[in-house]
Amino acid sequence: MTKRPDYTSALNEAAQRLKQARKIVVFTGAGVSAESGIGTFRDDHDGLWTRFPPERFANWQSLLQIAMQTPSQAAEFFVALMQPMVAAQPNAAHRAIASLESRALVTVVTQNIDALHEAAGSRAVHAVHGSLYETVYLDGRERGPVSRDVVAGVVAALGPICQETAAFEELLAAVEPLMGADAGGPYRPKIVLFGDQLAEPEWTLAQDAVQDCECMLSVGTSGTVYPAAMLPDMARAAGATVIGVDPQRVDADIWLAGAAATVLPALVAAAYD
Ligand code: OAD
Repeated sequence: MTKRPDYTSALNEAAQRLKQARKIVVFTGAGVSAESGIGTFRDDHDGLWTRFPPERFANWQSLLQIAMQTPSQAAEFFVALMQPMVAAQPNAAHRAIASLESRALVTVVTQNIDALHEAAGSRAVHAVHGSLYETVYLDGRERGPVSRDVVAGVVAALGPICQETAAFEELLAAVEPLMGADAGGPYRPKIVLFGDQLAEPEWTLAQDAVQDCECMLSVGTSGTVYPAAMLPDMARAAGATVIGVDPQRVDADIWLAGAAATVLPALVAAAYD
């Protein structure tokens, strides 16, 4: 990591604030999972939305149209979204965040759907954009969890559908564990795309935790997608210190410039060791 001139003093100040806080919210975006091999959305080179324009692929109606017209394109998108997630393990940033629970009352609010915070051992996690490993009926009723192995099976079944000649029916058969219809009605993964309401009760619980925290760590998020992006301001309005961890400059009281898997273990060690 390239250290900025003021990195050490920023780290020390952030460590002091963290240590003093009894209630901490860790707010995460795609950057916290980047070092687990999951690309971010807005990276210039291989961001998901750089390869698959969000105005076409990030809402259910348009995605269904693509699936019917060119099933191979929809399959390519699903594989690009899901394959890195089913292959990923938590990294040092997820583990450092989980370790905070022995020091303070910690709530993780994540925009990620990869379930890596839970895998690292965090217990209070509100996934406000949903989870790849949960399914819901279209009217919002919960349908239940789907294991990582099952999602990996869907990814494998989608491989051949990425061929240009694939039919819509083949796509439907491949995604059936995640999207389809059963006795309860049509169902899909519990993930939030543009135009959807945020996941509940996660969003309400997230706001409650933010309004009650003394320190927020905001990690690896561009802060461009609302309403989740308003949480750091909400924390600040409630009197909390906001510490931003990101290689790119972020709007925070203290900015720690660097990669999450390097900065977070260093921050936790500086605060508590
Ligand atoms: P973005 O792709 O918008 O931003 C990723 C952020 O992570 C950027 O600020 C990067 O600088 C930073 N980053 C990259 N590598 C990092 C690393 N190793 N350590 C720390 N930070 C790193 O992703 P999000 O902010 O999560 O929503 O995007 C927010 C929402 O936009 C997503 O939840 C998703 C997307 O559209 C929906 O689809 C509704």
